[in-house]
Amino acid sequence: MPDRPHASQTLQGGNSQTGDTNWSGTHIPTAPANFPSQYEVLSQASASLTDASNLEADPKLYVASFGERERGWTIPDMYSTVDENGRTYQGFMPGEYSLPNDGEEQDRQDFQHALYNIILDGKLASAPIRSPKHILDIGTGTGIWAIDAAELWPSAQVIGTDLSLIQAAPRTSNCHFFLENSETQDWVYSSPFDYIHLRSVGPCFTDIRTVFQKAYNHLAPGGWIELQDGAWELYSLNNTSRGSAFERWLALIKVGSLNQGRDMTKIRSHRDYLKQVGFVNIGEKETPVPTSPWAKDRKSKKMGYFLGSSMLSALEPYRKTIGSAGLSPEEIDELAAAVKQELLDLRNHWFMPACVIYAQKPFNQEYGSGGQTHFKQEPGKP
Ligand SMILES: C[S@@+](CC[C@H](N)C(=O)[O-])C[C@H]1O[C@@H](n2cnc3c(N)ncnc32)[C@H](O)[C@@H]1O
Repeated sequence: MPDRPHASQTLQGGNSQTGDTNWSGTHIPTAPANFPSQYEVLSQASASLTDASNLEADPKLYVASFGERERGWTIPDMYSTVDENGRTYQGFMPGEYSLPNDGEEQDRQDFQHALYNIILDGKLASAPIRSPKHILDIGTGTGIWAIDAAELWPSAQVIGTDLSLIQAAPRTSNCHFFLENSETQDWVYSSPFDYIHLRSVGPCFTDIRTVFQKAYNHLAPGGWIELQDGAWELYSLNNTSRGSAFERWLALIKVGSLNQGRDMTKIRSHRDYLKQVGFVNIGEKETPVPTSPWAKDRKSKKMGYFLGSSMLSALEPYRKTIGSAGLSPEEIDELAAAVKQELLDLRNHWFMPACVIYAQKPFNQEYGSGGQTHFKQEPGKP
């Protein structure tokens, strides 16, 4: 096991953070002291849906499913820093990641966890893994996936790595969190992994091929890598999303992230990248996810709730990225307000694709085998 700080030793209960507003202007409260597993989150959401059989008539009941909760852990001061807008960013390798790590951002990540739980029908992984013994979760964020994985596979050792030690204390002894830049730092692990998981890591790396190559090298023969991420694309059945503020916002995210030196919208290139480093048996699944709870069927409505909540919470932290596309602060505010209005409008029947892609290291490739571990994407080039 590498000799690095252990999150559970550094995380203590503390400040709660304020949330945002959502459909019908209802305040989204922050998460609880012991944040529940996704099953509890979803059962609360389901209970609320039972109360509100027609969500479109009373959307605030949906939001209320997160009521009376407080996120009960705070960020260790030694690793965090506060910027001028009052948001907290990681202090380890500052500038390596553009999004905050505070309670609001942690809530957003947990919305995404709930969303992928629905997309994957309650499963944590799509790759055909059986009884994995060593699991790595890169860019683990709140650690909610790693904690659930450790409970689901009690005989596995689960490691979550991140630039921020914001994770909750694991509920089991087989889950550990480490501070690590997965792209620029060398991976030092004593055992090969059977499964490596990355979710919502679009903004994390200059060139994700470096991480794919390291993953390949550190997987056991026959081990699997899996990515779960949104494509930053917007669709509608009748083209009503064309020319919308949200469409423009997404296009500016692409330009802004390119200008920041990391195109975070490259999920469509991942299949080729995985092939390039030697992965085989690549599987893909794409799910259209409503951008708000506009859809009639319960599953789509729930997905829309969690995606919409996540996108609403993303408007503020992505200001920097939009600013890098050349917009002034006033223009960013104006655009964000228009996007918020569109996302809250249940008449907008729009959706975005959520992508899952997994791939296997060939059985004839030994642990440690593989090629170069550093790629460098040229800004502006695919
Ligand atoms: C959008 S969050 C996703 C969190 C988690 N995977 C989830 O889906 O709930 C991205 C996370 O990756 C972390 N991260 C960003 N760049 C990283 C890097 N180079 N190495 C390791 N972690 C990184 C961030 O600190 C953040 O917690």
